[in-house]
Amino acid sequence: MSVTEQPAPAPGDDAATPEEEAAARLRDRISADSLTTRRDYLRIVATVSGGLAIGGVGVASGILHRHGDSEKAPASKKVADRLPRGQSVAFRFPGEEDRALAVRLQDGTLVGYSAVCTHLACAVLWREDRGPEGELYCPCHEGVFDARTGEVTAGPPPRPLPRVFLTEEVDGSVWAVATARSGEPAQEALCRQFGQDRPELAARLGCPGADRAPESRRT
Ligand code: FES
Repeated sequence: MSVTEQPAPAPGDDAATPEEEAAARLRDRISADSLTTRRDYLRIVATVSGGLAIGGVGVASGILHRHGDSEKAPASKKVADRLPRGQSVAFRFPGEEDRALAVRLQDGTLVGYSAVCTHLACAVLWREDRGPEGELYCPCHEGVFDARTGEVTAGPPPRPLPRVFLTEEVDGSVWAVATARSGEPAQEALCRQFGQDRPELAARLGCPGADRAPESRRT
């Protein structure tokens, strides 16, 4: 008979036998152990969820930096002398803390993204061997992003990867020039960053109000 199947004492049967006392002691010890284990478990859960909650609040209130938050265009940065098809290069942009990736797809398209996973900020990797044309892959929880768009295609990430805009010079060098917030349309992102400092470029991009910028500066 196990200690969890002890029968209730019969009426008038007050005196416990030595076997019953030993079983009661064992039962009490098991209960105490279970309580300790459960308390530890709750403490761990509280610590982990507390940490996540603090991170979420920090981002929500703007305490922590988010990729693409700048309102002005960052200084352009050369990220590679050349980038052959199927290959990627990791770099930091716009700040030295901001991990980013540039990828040349097999059809020659050049794409750039933040390499910070939108789930829990692990490093996103380029995996040419996965998917029909390669994938952006986060090994922490199997997050997968479409290489051409940055959209989430599998796993827990809640948002697409923020874009990093790249240009290619005639000598083949690749430069990072601007960023977008996660899910922000390209034109909106470029207008936000170039609208004030580069009115002629903003006009070419069709940014709202860009054609009036030179006049407003003359007054
Ligand atoms: Fe990338 Fe969880 S941190 S999938």
